[in-house]
Amino acid sequence: MNGVQSALHPAGAQAAATGSLFHIFLGVTCTFFLLVLIFLGWAIWRRDRGAPRERKMRLAVAAWAALITLGLFGLTIGSYWTDRSLAAMADGASPLRIKITAQQWWWEVEYQDADPSRIFTTANELHLPLGRPAKIELVADDVIHSLWIPNLAGKQDLIPGRSATLDLLPRRAGRFRAQCAEFCGLQHAHMALDVLVEPAADFAAWRAKSLEPAPSPKTVEQARGYAIVTGRQCAACHSIAGTPAYGSVGPDLSRVASRATLAAGELPNARTWLDRWIADPQTIKPGNRMPRIALTPADRRAVVTYLETLQ
Ligand code: CUA
Repeated sequence: MNGVQSALHPAGAQAAATGSLFHIFLGVTCTFFLLVLIFLGWAIWRRDRGAPRERKMRLAVAAWAALITLGLFGLTIGSYWTDRSLAAMADGASPLRIKITAQQWWWEVEYQDADPSRIFTTANELHLPLGRPAKIELVADDVIHSLWIPNLAGKQDLIPGRSATLDLLPRRAGRFRAQCAEFCGLQHAHMALDVLVEPAADFAAWRAKSLEPAPSPKTVEQARGYAIVTGRQCAACHSIAGTPAYGSVGPDLSRVASRATLAAGELPNARTWLDRWIADPQTIKPGNRMPRIALTPADRRAVVTYLETLQ
């Protein structure tokens, strides 16, 4: 996976802090493990040579106990300092505010703004500007989920009825993979989130594009797809900005064609897969809330053609 879902390849300040703590723990515990093995080997060696009984045992035990206490104390201090630095990072000035709602089994991502006309929603992808702190409000409506973006930060649970926040400070651009880290039902393992850390200018361009209404259909086929998507069952669950489709049960589709994957990381976002997904979502991801809609192959082609224009 080239470290795109790895806490050992930190790309953010929080992950770097917990990563350092991990290495301190690893170093200290490995040192003690080695010491135990060395002493054990030495004791066996002495026994085999028939060495006389140890008289100064008390001193050795006391020294060993002191060493262990010192080691544990060091780990406690390290843990405390990491906690402190994580808390300090959370107080960054003017963070980007995002609300993520976990659903069975996908992620709704809403970019907040003081101006309500500049709030927009996307799904299963999180775009973050490089170097700017982000404060993410985490919400769950159904069951407990947990958001884990290993390259950026530790896990944070999303518990219905409770508020939680996750602070991020991305320091390396790239595409990362996040995953739900709390068992939340049948498709828990198929609940991924694409995370894109991009330079500020790229992020601004993406944000500006996301605020525009979806493009209108231009060809006959696109218009046919548009009529089906906005006039039939699709619109009851999905929204597309600037159209009569404003359902909130399923992922927002305003820019679905621009996303890398379909169905929360389940499928690559390509025409054939989109067609197969619409034809039979329950075989691909059993138990998800998208029903099978009776569409003729020609209607489905038109729907796919229209959805592909939503860049
Ligand atoms: Cu959501 Cu596991």
